[in-house]
Amino acid sequence: MRWAWRRRRADAAGLPRRGAERARVPGAVRGAEPLPGGGVVRFARSSLRVRVAAGGAVFCGWDGAEPEPSYALAGPVPEADERAVLEPDTDGGWRVVSERVLVVVGRHGTVEVRTPGGVVLRRDLPPRWWEPVDPAAREAVEARWTQRSEVAADARFFGLGGRAVGPRLRDGAYRLWNTDPGGAFEPGDDPLYITMPVQLVVADAGTHLAFHDNTWDGRVTLREGEEGAGSGHDRPGSCEVRMDGGPLRSWVMVGTPARVLHTWATLTGAPALPPAWALGPQHARWGFGSEREVRRVVTGYRERGLPLSVVHLDIDHYQGHRVFTVDRERFPDLPGLAAELRGQGVRLVSIVDPAVKARPGVAEYDSGAAAGAFVRDARGREVRGEVWPGECVFPDFTDPGVRKWWGGLYAERLAQGFSGVWHDMNEPVSFAAFGDPTLPRSARHSLEGRGGDHRAAHNVYGLTMARAGYEGLRELRPQERPFLFSRSGWAGMQRYGGTWSGDVATGWPGLRASLALVLGLGLCGVPYSGPDVGGFTGHPSPELFLRWFQLGAYLPLFRTHAAHDAGRREPWEFGAEVLEHAGAALRERTRLLPYFVTLAHLAQRTGAPYVRPVWWRSPEDRALRDCEDAFLLGDSLLVAPVLEQGTDRRAVRLPRGRWYDTATGQAHEGPGQVLLDAPLSRIPVLARAGSVVPVAGADGQVELEVWPPAAGRTGGGVLVPDTGEGWAPPSVVRFTTRLRDGVVVVEREGAEGVGYPVRVRGAETGAGD
Ligand code: NOJ
Repeated sequence: MRWAWRRRRADAAGLPRRGAERARVPGAVRGAEPLPGGGVVRFARSSLRVRVAAGGAVFCGWDGAEPEPSYALAGPVPEADERAVLEPDTDGGWRVVSERVLVVVGRHGTVEVRTPGGVVLRRDLPPRWWEPVDPAAREAVEARWTQRSEVAADARFFGLGGRAVGPRLRDGAYRLWNTDPGGAFEPGDDPLYITMPVQLVVADAGTHLAFHDNTWDGRVTLREGEEGAGSGHDRPGSCEVRMDGGPLRSWVMVGTPARVLHTWATLTGAPALPPAWALGPQHARWGFGSEREVRRVVTGYRERGLPLSVVHLDIDHYQGHRVFTVDRERFPDLPGLAAELRGQGVRLVSIVDPAVKARPGVAEYDSGAAAGAFVRDARGREVRGEVWPGECVFPDFTDPGVRKWWGGLYAERLAQGFSGVWHDMNEPVSFAAFGDPTLPRSARHSLEGRGGDHRAAHNVYGLTMARAGYEGLRELRPQERPFLFSRSGWAGMQRYGGTWSGDVATGWPGLRASLALVLGLGLCGVPYSGPDVGGFTGHPSPELFLRWFQLGAYLPLFRTHAAHDAGRREPWEFGAEVLEHAGAALRERTRLLPYFVTLAHLAQRTGAPYVRPVWWRSPEDRALRDCEDAFLLGDSLLVAPVLEQGTDRRAVRLPRGRWYDTATGQAHEGPGQVLLDAPLSRIPVLARAGSVVPVAGADGQVELEVWPPAAGRTGGGVLVPDTGEGWAPPSVVRFTTRLRDGVVVVEREGAEGVGYPVRVRGAETGAGD
């Protein structure tokens, strides 16, 4: 209660008053000047900079907004496309013509992004600002703004960060404010920990990604369109972005889904490459409580022959819940435990919370206070709040000096023997009995020296903490790639690591939400994520646990986790049948490790998520666009998890081409829907005809699993061998497949032999060389 009241009082005193407001629109066009990549179009009451970048991404900045500074961008703004030209348009507007995209600016500020052939993908209507009538207040107060856009009547929306509904985002309002929903969330809860003003829009005419580069609180209202059944009276889809302040600037990129995600990764940064061990099975629990219990769990896996790659320690291993400490009574020799587990092939990962106990004598408090590292209020006093250790202060990660200080603190974690970190509570959370459980909006932040308040800094708190952790680990242990995943984040967070679902409620809806989150985040450029397998709360039924486990085995982060008061999550706690089938899922995951390593490298190189919607290669297939209960794992596999209770058969919608049921070898032809067996022992997984899937053979060495191409067709695949934990550049090995006289032929590009054992799968085919 105390913190909630304090927060309210701080904001009442510390935020500027808006007073009476008036609306502004751009008004009529006055002229335009060419500039690299396009130009500036001037209106009576605003101006618009249009700049097409060399890769085809279109930047639009109103009121003088430039692409920089930006928390999303990975590096320097991509060069302007020198060949893009600004030309007058027929009705008094202007157009920027480039090779990949055409941008048409109307007389009153409408902006259309069209394909080079002229098909409209997105039409932004003239924006509207609200600003104080009083000129003095206008100086102190950020204008709020709204921009409404139209898309094709058949378009579907995806993205907006990690949403529990979806992956297809239906009509409704989605808030842009990173939030710990408290307790556990279900599909109706919105927003969650990671929000991003990133929309991926898929329509017959093409796919585009629109990003509003603005970190403020906002709301996106989506409405899918309606087709007039040939009457010519389609109602377009619409989305309205409404922000409480900050610049009105956006990026739009168009092309195939793969091309769009590649452009996005070029703009916001390549996803960090997890080490191979972070692609293996992982086990976490809030409340292991002691070294003994950790050993018991690890031994449980080993004795049952179940593979395990990582164990995560939650806040209960801290001393008094204080970050960068260890409870030495219950964990007397953490470095010893870490070394012992490592000898068994199991790594330790540590939770890291941002809040620091506000008490002199606490080392991190003392050093942070001396460095002025903590967020302050409008009057210059440290902002206090309440988190697990009690009264806390919050590092200001938007300050480069604070990031450096914080990054140095990870030396303690490395000395304890941890191999990676798990960032939590970084929305940031400050417990409150009512209102928003975070810092006051009036709290001051450095924002890289520009200065500002929590309204601008809130959504990038997790992102900048991830940067601090990543850069710290990189400096402390330069020979190894950092492994980090973070509950909160923003556009560009993939540069530093991945994320997980957060506290997903145990239940069948939570299982469904798990998949929605991973798919949605992948389409926002964050490819490495996964849920708390089994759900964070309560006691999953054996069936629910198993189905969650079977889904998790095909997601990048495959980790069980649960709250301290929840039931157990060890696979052997649910009876012999679950143990047997969970064991099979664990072994299959381990067998697929070379494929996961390859997908991680491909994500880094191309921005393509490991887990992709089924429409990834055929976005024009409308039935696929609406399919939310299956996914592609890379190019080769289609995974159809069981998301409903009591199911032993399920319908699977196939993209075009031939697909093999990997359990039976039976071939099915897409596009279309098939009904497949989904007994408790497994979920349906299909392999694309012609594909080459790198897997681990019985001896752990890489082998190629090849699925025959259909007659007259060819296929192929890629292998990126593991480069270890350092920074060695990867090599990409490409294979092609074809049929010769009914025999499968596999060839390696640029080499004589294939170089790996080949195993041909699928019914009725001979094996070739
Ligand atoms: C909230 C996190 O989401 C959860 O995973 C963790 O177990 C608890 N905090 C305790 O640290």
